[in-house]
Amino acid sequence: QTAQKGGFKHFMLKEISEEDEALANTIYAHIFNDKINMDIDEELLKKTDKITIVACGTSYYAGLTSKYFFEELLSIPVNVEIASEFRYLKPIFTQNSIFIAISQSGETADTKESLNLAKSFGVKTISIVNVQESTIARLSDYVLYTLAGPEISVASTKAFVCQLAMLYLFALKIAQLKGIEIKPYLNELMSLPSILKTEFSRLNTEVEKIAKKYANVKNFMYLGRGLSYPLALEGALKLKEISYIHAEGYPAGELKHGPIALIDENTPTFVIAPNFEPLYSKTISNANEVKARNGKIILLSDKFSNIADDFVQVPNTSYFFSAFVNIVPLQLFAYHIANILGNDVDQPRNLAKSVTVE
Ligand code: G6P
Repeated sequence: QTAQKGGFKHFMLKEISEEDEALANTIYAHIFNDKINMDIDEELLKKTDKITIVACGTSYYAGLTSKYFFEELLSIPVNVEIASEFRYLKPIFTQNSIFIAISQSGETADTKESLNLAKSFGVKTISIVNVQESTIARLSDYVLYTLAGPEISVASTKAFVCQLAMLYLFALKIAQLKGIEIKPYLNELMSLPSILKTEFSRLNTEVEKIAKKYANVKNFMYLGRGLSYPLALEGALKLKEISYIHAEGYPAGELKHGPIALIDENTPTFVIAPNFEPLYSKTISNANEVKARNGKIILLSDKFSNIADDFVQVPNTSYFFSAFVNIVPLQLFAYHIANILGNDVDQPRNLAKSVTVE
C-alpha cells in the first residue's frame, strides 16, 4: 500500500503531486507543431454557436471555470449545468449547439442521462472522460480522454486540472479553426506542467503550516471573482468532502447580500485574487469588508496585500491560467486539515468515487 502511494501517506497527496505530469500528458497528446489535434469533425466545430457543458461535483466546477475562457476567446454562449438538474430541464439547443459531458469515471448516472437527453435532441455530443472505454465515453459521438492516470482518492484532484486543460485545448481548437491567434495561449498552457512541478513542495510546506493554524475552525468562507469564483466553490467542496468542516464558496461581490452575516473572528475567509485588474482590487476590497468584521483572511495570490493574515504566494500566470495554479493550494489545504483531524482522507464518510445511481 505504501509503495502504491509512492511514499505519500495518502493517495490524495500523491495525486496532487502528480498534477504536473498528468497535465503534461493531457496537453502534449493534443499538440503537434503548434497546432491542436483532435479527432472531431472540423465543420461541426467551426459553426458551433452554443456550448452546453454538463457534469457533477468537481467535474462541474471544471466546466464552470472554463466558461470564462471560452466566452472570452470565442464570444459564443457557454451554459454550464449540473447534470441532476439538466436531465429534468427542457434543454434549449441552437441549430449548431455542441454538448459536452465531463466525467472522471465516465459512469456518473446523472451525467450519462443528460448525455442521452442531448442525443435525443440530435445534438452532437463530446465527452471529456478519464476512464477509457467507460459508459459515457462509449455513448458520446466524440471522446477527449484526459490522461490523468488512475485517480484512487475519492476527492478528485488531478482529474480536475486535466479536465480544465482539455476544455482550454478544446476552446483553442475552435479558435484555431476560426483563425484566432492561439500561440500565446498555447505557450502558456504548455508552461504549466513545469510550474506545477517546481512549486509543489514549496506550496505543500507553506499550506501545511497554515492548515495547522486553522485545523480547529468550524466554518470557512471561500471568495473569488471571475474564474476564481468557481475555484472558491471547488475549494469549499474539497474541504467539506474530506475534513467535514462547513465551508461556503461565494462570488466575492455577493458577500454583502447575505453571507457577510456569517463573518466573525471564528470564521476565516479564503480569498482567491489573481493579480488582474479590476478584479484584484475589487476582491481585496471585499476582503476588507471581512476584515472589518474581525474575520481572518487567507490570501491566495501572485500579489501580496497587507490585508492578509496568511498569504500563499502562487506563481505568476496570466489571468485565464491562474486557475491551474490556484487550485493546488486549495486542494492541499483541504488535504492537510483532514489529515491533521485524523480523517480517512482517501475514503471520506458517506461519499463514493463514482455515483452510478440516481
Ligand atoms: C462523486 C465524486 C466526486 C466527483 C463526482 C463526479 O461525487 O466523489 O469526486 O467529482 O462524483 O464524478 P465524475 O466521475 O462524473 O467526474
